[in-house]
Amino acid sequence: MMDTPSRTTVRVSVPATSANLGVGFDCLGIALDLRAVFTFELSDELLIEGCPPHLAGPDNLVWTSYCESCSELGRDPLPLRIAVDSPIPITGGLGSSSACVIAGIIAAQVFVGDGFNRAETLAAAIGIEGHPDNVAPALLGGLVSSCVTDKETLAIPHAISSIFHYVALAPSYEVRTSEARKALPERYPLATLVTQMGRYATLINALETGNAPLLGIACHDLVHEPYRAKLIPDYEPLKACALESGAAAFTISGSGSAMLAICEGRDRAEAVAESIHGLMPGLWLQLLPVDTRGTIVEVKR
Ligand code: HSE
Repeated sequence: MMDTPSRTTVRVSVPATSANLGVGFDCLGIALDLRAVFTFELSDELLIEGCPPHLAGPDNLVWTSYCESCSELGRDPLPLRIAVDSPIPITGGLGSSSACVIAGIIAAQVFVGDGFNRAETLAAAIGIEGHPDNVAPALLGGLVSSCVTDKETLAIPHAISSIFHYVALAPSYEVRTSEARKALPERYPLATLVTQMGRYATLINALETGNAPLLGIACHDLVHEPYRAKLIPDYEPLKACALESGAAAFTISGSGSAMLAICEGRDRAEAVAESIHGLMPGLWLQLLPVDTRGTIVEVKR
């Protein structure tokens, strides 16, 4: 274990993510250039600043992830002051929870462990989140597939064409991942899975090569979106609006309530954003490039 001076400051910056990208349920995710920044210092007592009061108690996800990681490391958690500065909507679907989990794990690694270790953070974050598709791109940046084996989860980065631009949308209502997962069937027909596998491979190829028409063909999910769309009352009108105004694809982002329009070129993304704004002026909407840096950790001693 490293000696951690009491004035050590740890700054963890984690990008937003959009998981699934339609046909990549629980496997695929992309990091987007919108960053949550968490600053940690040792303190006499737990202090959490920068988030709504109901999220600033001991059940805060950054703190519980930190405590769980301290326990995994065989150490008692040291009290922390945690300052959160996050523009990622907390209504679900853009990786706000993953960012909290990752930040808490890294704080434990630095304050009571041997220092930041990206591979160990990934394994621990998957353990807490239960699925890898947000945490892998949040840590690594870019477009990442996750391959689960008996022993570990492999994170497989993909190249991604710079031709695509992303319009992220977040309604004001929350969809909880636990509820969205309950909406899914327990079993799927073999034909559904075969079709889905073909679309996954095609989607990756389209994103890598910048083939927007192919993206439009591939990005039709059969595993979760048909069951979750009803949890997001604005999904159908927003999807119709985005596709009519030129988006190549439109998906639920993660388990919602956020959504993502993928567009060929910046001009088309702006046109899509403008049409959506015209349809629903109050909707949180951001045109976001891909983040390629992943999680950034700075330790000042
Ligand atoms: N793959 C997960 C789900 C992502 O769709 O339930 C949750 O953000």
